Amino acid sequence: MTARRVQVVIIGAGPAGLTLGRLLERAGVEAVILERRSPDYVLGRIRAGVLEQGTADLLEGAGVGDRMRAEGLIHDGIEIGFDGETRRIDFDALIGRHVIVYGQTEVTRDLMAARAESGAETVYEAADVSIAGFDTVRPIVRYRKDGVAHEITCDFIAGCDGFHGVSRASVPPSALRTFERIYPFGWLGVLVDRPPVAEELIYAHHERGFALCSMRSPRRSRYYVQVPAEEKADAWSDDRFWDELRARLDPVTAEKLATGPSIEKSIAPLRSFVAEPLRFGRLFLAGDAAHIVPPTGAKGLNLAMADVRALAPALIEFYDDRSEAGIDAYSAKALSRIWKAERFSWWMTSLLHVFPETGDFGRRIQRAEFDYLSGSRAAQESLAENYTGLP
Ligand code: APR
Ligand code: PHB
Repeated sequence: MTARRVQVVIIGAGPAGLTLGRLLERAGVEAVILERRSPDYVLGRIRAGVLEQGTADLLEGAGVGDRMRAEGLIHDGIEIGFDGETRRIDFDALIGRHVIVYGQTEVTRDLMAARAESGAETVYEAADVSIAGFDTVRPIVRYRKDGVAHEITCDFIAGCDGFHGVSRASVPPSALRTFERIYPFGWLGVLVDRPPVAEELIYAHHERGFALCSMRSPRRSRYYVQVPAEEKADAWSDDRFWDELRARLDPVTAEKLATGPSIEKSIAPLRSFVAEPLRFGRLFLAGDAAHIVPPTGAKGLNLAMADVRALAPALIEFYDDRSEAGIDAYSAKALSRIWKAERFSWWMTSLLHVFPETGDFGRRIQRAEFDYLSGSRAAQESLAENYTGLP
C-alpha cells in the first residue's frame, strides 16, 4: 500500500471535478482528482450543451475558454412551440443576454487538456474509492489502481462524483435530507451529422408529447422526443424517431428537417433531486452528486459550474487567509441558487411535456401558461433571466 498527503482530494473528473481542479491549481492549492473511468469513457458520454454566460465567463477566467469562444455558437434566443404555434423568446432584446451552444463533451475535453498540460495529477480508473474521517480535520481517501491499494490523507474532500457516486452515499442518512420528484417519462435523444433544422433551439409542446431540436455545431444536430419512462431505445428505428419528431413540430419546421442515420440514440430519465446540506465536516458535495434537474432548460452543467464557482474561492480563502467563513457559507449559498434552478427546470418541464395523469385540466393550464408567456413581456423576461442564468 502507498500512503501520502495532499491538500484536497477531488472525486470525479466530470465538469464539476475538473473545473474545481483547475481553479484550485491556478490558486496554488494542491488537488488530486480520482476518477473511476478512463478519459475516453468520460468523453464518450453524450450530455447537453448550452452554457450560461456565467459558465462561459468562469471557463474563460480559468484559461480554458479559447476553443469555446472560437467554436461555440452564440444564441440570442430560443423558440417555444405549442401545438404547432411558435414564439421566439429574444434574450438579447429582453435583457441583453445570450447563451453559448458548446457541448459538455468539448468543455470536458478542454479541461482535461489544460490539466494534462499543467501536470496536475488525475488518477483515472481509480477503483473502489472510499472516504473516511471527514468528521475530523484529517479525512482519508482510499482507492485501488492496477491492483495496488493507495491511501491519501487530506484537508478536504470534494465529492464531484455525480448522482451515483460514493461521496453522498458515504454520508450517514441521518445527516442528509433529500428531495425528489421522478417524472413518468424520459427523453429519447438522437445525434445526427446533419445541419440543425433551425438556427436556434426549438422546445415544442405537442399533444403527442414534448420535442426538442438542439445542436452541437453547424453540422451536427441533437433531437429529443418525450417517451414513456419504461420505453426502450431499441424499439425506436431511425425512421420511427424521425416520423415522431416531425409529427410534433410545426409543419414548416417539420418540412425542413434534415434526417440521416443516427450516430447515438439513448433514453434519459427525468428527475428533480436535491440533497441538503452540501457540507459534512470536511466533505463537500458539488454538481450532480448533490442535485439533478430534468434537462428542460439545460441547467445541469451550469448548476455544477455554479457550485464550483462558490466552492473554489471558499477553499482558496481557507488556505490563503486561514478563514473558514467561505467554507461555512458554501452550502447555504449554493443551495439558494440550486433551488431556483430546480424551480425553473421543473416549470419548463411542466409547461412543455404531456403529463398523462393531469388530463384535460392540465392541458388547459399549460395552454394558458403558453398564452400568458406569448403576451407578457414580464413573463418572457422571467424566462430569459432564468434560461441565460441567474447570478
Ligand atoms: N469514484 C470515482 N469517480 C466516480 C465515482 C467513484 N465512486 N462515481 C462516479 N465517478 C465519476 C464518474 O465516472 C464521472 O466521471 O464522477 C464523475 C461525475 O461526473 P458527472 O456525472 O459529469 O457530474 P458533474 O461533474 O457533477 O457534472 C454535472 O453532468 O450529468 C451531467 O447533466 C449533468 O451536465 C451535468 C453535469
Ligand atoms: C442538448 O443539446 O442536448 C440539450 C439542449 C437543451 C436542453 C437539453 C439538452 O434543454
